[in-house]
Amino acid sequence: METFSIRAANVEDCKDIARMIKELAEYEKLADLVRVTQRDLEQDGFSKNPFFHGIIAEVPEQHRTKEGHTKIGYALYFYSYSSWMGRAIYMEDLYVMPEFRGKGIGKALMSKVAQLGLAAGCHQLNFTVLEWNKSSLDFYLSQGCFDITDKMGYHCMRCEGEALEHLAQP
Ligand SMILES: CC(C)(COP(=O)(O)OP(=O)(O)OC[C@H]1O[C@@H](n2cnc3c(N)ncnc32)[C@H](O)[C@@H]1OP(=O)(O)O)[C@@H](O)C(=O)NCCC(=O)NCCS
Repeated sequence: METFSIRAANVEDCKDIARMIKELAEYEKLADLVRVTQRDLEQDGFSKNPFFHGIIAEVPEQHRTKEGHTKIGYALYFYSYSSWMGRAIYMEDLYVMPEFRGKGIGKALMSKVAQLGLAAGCHQLNFTVLEWNKSSLDFYLSQGCFDITDKMGYHCMRCEGEALEHLAQP
């Protein structure tokens, strides 16, 4: 197995995180929806009271991609709260570049999020996956996760744009 390392993201990683966010969105066929820039990530993740945290998977120089990338996977997460279960951690993204998949890197990234969650007293790790993304769904099931839509009937809901502005009117 190739060597790789997993570490906390820092502000210098934002260029690669922004690149991989786009790659993940392309994989999910939703690239048009990405608005977040490298600068947003720098501000939102690495200033006082960060809105998210990141984990980076890195390979040594000799295994860099043909484009020269050594940062080849990432996870983004933040803390949340369940009024039933208490502290929870939310994994926003999990991504490994195609040529590095199937080597334990995705599992190592997700395991790190789980470790950090447990260390912070969280009882749940929550995330969403697109319905058609069968291979990722199978990956999550193989890690002992379950589908709360199937099991409990929850739907992910969102309010944004004009509806959000409207909702915020006094
Ligand atoms: C999902 C993803 C992060 C998994 O990362 P990965 O590095 O390829 O997975 P790993 O090599 O760490 O696999 C870990 C374990 O999951 C299993 N696994 C991986 N893919 C699987 C699949 N499609 N079906 C069943 N099991 C799977 C592996 O067999 C391995 O099991 P083991 O520990 O018993 O050997 C990666 O494939 C990816 O980035 N996919 C595209 C982006 C994506 O869909 N992200 C999730 C968005 S919600």
